[in-house]
Amino acid sequence: MDFDAEKIYSPEDFRLYGHQLIDLLADQLTESQSAGDLLTIDWKSPEDQLDFWSKDFDSPLLDTPQGLFKDVLSRSINLYNPKYMGHQVPPPAPMALLGSLLSGFLNNGAAVYEMGMTGNAIEKIVTENLGLKFGFGSDASGFVTSGGTLGNLTALLSARAASTNVWDAGSGEQNNLAIMVSAESHYSVDRAARIMGLGTGGIIKIPVNDRFQLRTDLLDTYFAEARKAGKNVFCIIGCACSTSTGAYDDLQTIGEFAAKNHIWFHVDGAHGAPAIYSPLYKHLLKGVEMADSLIVDFHKMMMTPALSTAVIYKRAADSYKTFAQKAQYLWADQQKQEWHNSGKRTFECTKHVNIVCVYTLMRIYGDEVFKQNVETLYTLARDFADLVKKYQRFELAYEPQSNIVCFRYLSSNTGEDVNQKILQDLLMDGRYYIVSTTLNDVFYLRTAIMNPLTTIKHLTGLLDMICNLDL
Ligand SMILES: Cc1ncc(COP(=O)(O)O)c(C=O)c1O
Repeated sequence: MDFDAEKIYSPEDFRLYGHQLIDLLADQLTESQSAGDLLTIDWKSPEDQLDFWSKDFDSPLLDTPQGLFKDVLSRSINLYNPKYMGHQVPPPAPMALLGSLLSGFLNNGAAVYEMGMTGNAIEKIVTENLGLKFGFGSDASGFVTSGGTLGNLTALLSARAASTNVWDAGSGEQNNLAIMVSAESHYSVDRAARIMGLGTGGIIKIPVNDRFQLRTDLLDTYFAEARKAGKNVFCIIGCACSTSTGAYDDLQTIGEFAAKNHIWFHVDGAHGAPAIYSPLYKHLLKGVEMADSLIVDFHKMMMTPALSTAVIYKRAADSYKTFAQKAQYLWADQQKQEWHNSGKRTFECTKHVNIVCVYTLMRIYGDEVFKQNVETLYTLARDFADLVKKYQRFELAYEPQSNIVCFRYLSSNTGEDVNQKILQDLLMDGRYYIVSTTLNDVFYLRTAIMNPLTTIKHLTGLLDMICNLDL
């Protein structure tokens, strides 16, 4: 094929295929919301997928993208089906999707002001607005990064920069740096600490109670033991909430502990920080205002497509120390604290201006949309937990604090654990999609209820279906 730049950038082709794609997606939305018994996942083996796409890759070039778009859609899991209740990934609100298309069209790099004039300004407004909601005060400042994993790493690097000179002096000075965190924290915290060279010994995992919250009664003992062993604990992390069980740590007590011992307090609110929008559930975040840094994923409980995570600091100055570095070709003065050159504070150089997605929701629906989403999903999880308790065949792992519910089927014969088989059978059937976790060495079925169109009827259907499996 000859290179025909005019054809590639043809406004008319873009309009035509764009409309066709929107129609295709809108049809899938309609179908997903119909009462029919649709598949959430038409599971194929990895070999099957590889074979299909290898053949596709080797086949003649396409005249139009429609067929390709349809194949991508039909061979992927459908998060818009209200029977999707697996991982903590939402069906993005369609308005936010349109924002995503706009952001892709702009392709503004964002690291330097001119390449993200709008994005950088909106990030400042949104993160500062969130900072006020979390009680951080008027000096709070933040930016958006690509996901909670990178958000946690960035915040931990900031925590280290606040109390050590490792960034400049190198790891020689780092010996014995350590963090304290719940044993139930997301693996990205552990990974971030290892990337920073802390090693296994530098990650002090505090056991959890029977509600899977960090045991604050152990903090003083673990801290004293760490000190005795020559460790320099520079940060403690609170989960709001944890991944496996959706448990909120006692942020108030952790915050007081951090203040007493002069260590950085980071809150991983990737999933559960948006509870701040809900008068009904914001009490779960009591004490969050004591944090030095906090992350919030917009692409979990705030209905946007991935990836966009706010990293918010109580003191603006802390956010500029993380990546102190020269980049003459980007900005003239590294020392200046310029919010508008966001690459000074973010891991990324080129960065998707994903803030447009959440901002679109904020401007069209206001805070109310996040309040309603949190309350609908958290309340439904409580109703689901009550439902599970009514079935004699099921055991609930804990009373849910968020929209993550873990439960297991109690086998009537031989004591054999059939829950792995249940998970597999559900996957092969494809109507429901749920996942699993292991708690205290016991295998549990796990649901994260992410779709506000999911109802108690769907959840009853799930339990009934499990009861009718050939177990
Ligand atoms: C509590 C928590 N923190 C961090 C992360 C990582 O976020 P991301 O998947 O956006 O990298 C997750 C993901 O599930 C999470 O649940």
